Amino acid sequence: MNCYYCDRINLADPDYAARAAEFDLGSEAPRCARHWRYRCDRCGEPGHFSDRFYCPKAKRVCCKDSGVVTLQTGAFWSFLDWWTLACPECGGTHPSLERAEFEQVHPWQLVPGAEQQRRWLSSETHLVRYPPVRFPVVEALQLTDADIDVTWSNNADLWNAGYDERGDSNRRYSSDELLLDFLGDVRGRRILDAGSGTGYLARLLARAGAQVTAVENARRFHEIALEYEQTTPLGIDFRHGSISSMPGLDASVFDAVVANYVLMDVREYEGAMAEIARVLKPGGRFVFSLVHNTIDFQWDRSATDSPRKDDRVGWRDSGYFIRRAGYIQWGAFEPFLTFHRPLRDYLAACKTVGLELRDLDEPYLTEEGQRVLPPSEVESAQQAPISYVLRCERV
Ligand SMILES: C[S@@+](CC[C@H](N)C(=O)[O-])C[C@H]1O[C@@H](n2cnc3c(N)ncnc32)[C@H](O)[C@@H]1O
Ligand SMILES: [Zn+2]
Ligand SMILES: [Zn+2]
Ligand SMILES: [Zn+2]
Repeated sequence: MNCYYCDRINLADPDYAARAAEFDLGSEAPRCARHWRYRCDRCGEPGHFSDRFYCPKAKRVCCKDSGVVTLQTGAFWSFLDWWTLACPECGGTHPSLERAEFEQVHPWQLVPGAEQQRRWLSSETHLVRYPPVRFPVVEALQLTDADIDVTWSNNADLWNAGYDERGDSNRRYSSDELLLDFLGDVRGRRILDAGSGTGYLARLLARAGAQVTAVENARRFHEIALEYEQTTPLGIDFRHGSISSMPGLDASVFDAVVANYVLMDVREYEGAMAEIARVLKPGGRFVFSLVHNTIDFQWDRSATDSPRKDDRVGWRDSGYFIRRAGYIQWGAFEPFLTFHRPLRDYLAACKTVGLELRDLDEPYLTEEGQRVLPPSEVESAQQAPISYVLRCERV
């Protein structure tokens, strides 16, 4: 069996001789030694070759955490970009190892005997960061909102670190444009942010003149939201609890409810829909985004340690109509508990509680996103959809 990366390079350059895979055998991306993991001489940590850099002056391999890393744009082999490290050893700039190999400055090309001795190669034979069973299915009925709180709270600080006041890159450059368009003019409106996370959207709406209440189930997310409110008060009423039961909120009081990437993570989504319908004024709007459920359990990298977005795999769902709870792997986060349901389940739940569907669309990279994001991310956005946004009216 060939190395996954060698095969990719060989497709672009038929003269490139693919090597046999030796590592991570049995995974979707078995790899040769050249394209396996290298140990950093500075911190000792092993990592993906795209996260490693070679300093020919110091004759040392450095990891991405050892200095400032910059994404460089330009096609070579099957890649659209690579990274450079401002070298902490010599002050120069070095390319990540896949680009170094292309430029013939990979340490195994420069240092005689290094390839034979396998210098810097990690002694790992398999990726150990992830559970061996990729998508364990759990019994949804045995879960409680407290279990769900734990998986989210464990990830809350890392999650928050990836956000600015416009959320993460997906929200900023893709779905928020549509979500805000569906919400319409929010000035002076009473809005409920259901499943508010750390509250970036609540703050965005409050800044736009809305009067915002926010309900969030994960304790740590709620605490972070409160910390923001303390530092910069915007008058947002942040509450801790499940949106499947909101006894503290009166009926028919909100002009709009928004649930931004929430319902696919909610255990009792039908109860949540009923509560949302209850607190909305007649004629009020319910706007919600969902992770596109053709990718929710499948959106992963075949080489799970790869920083490359182009290693992502989209559409591989088998059993679209099978309802299930399970863990998904995403970036450096601990596995999240989430639920796969066909889209029709959400539509049926809306109908049952008197939320009539008025609009549905699939956000695409905004013009701003296409301008500012690196080409590999633009390409990955073209390969698979990320979300749906829906607008319902309380009848
Ligand atoms: C993908 S995050 C989105 C957070 C936020 N809306 C945002 O866009 O940044 C999903 C959120 O739903 C919350 N959640 C899951 N089940 C919930 C429930 N029953 N009630 C309220 N929030 C819930 C999670 O704790 C998590 O914060
Ligand atoms: Zn290879
Ligand atoms: Zn290091
Ligand atoms: Zn250097």
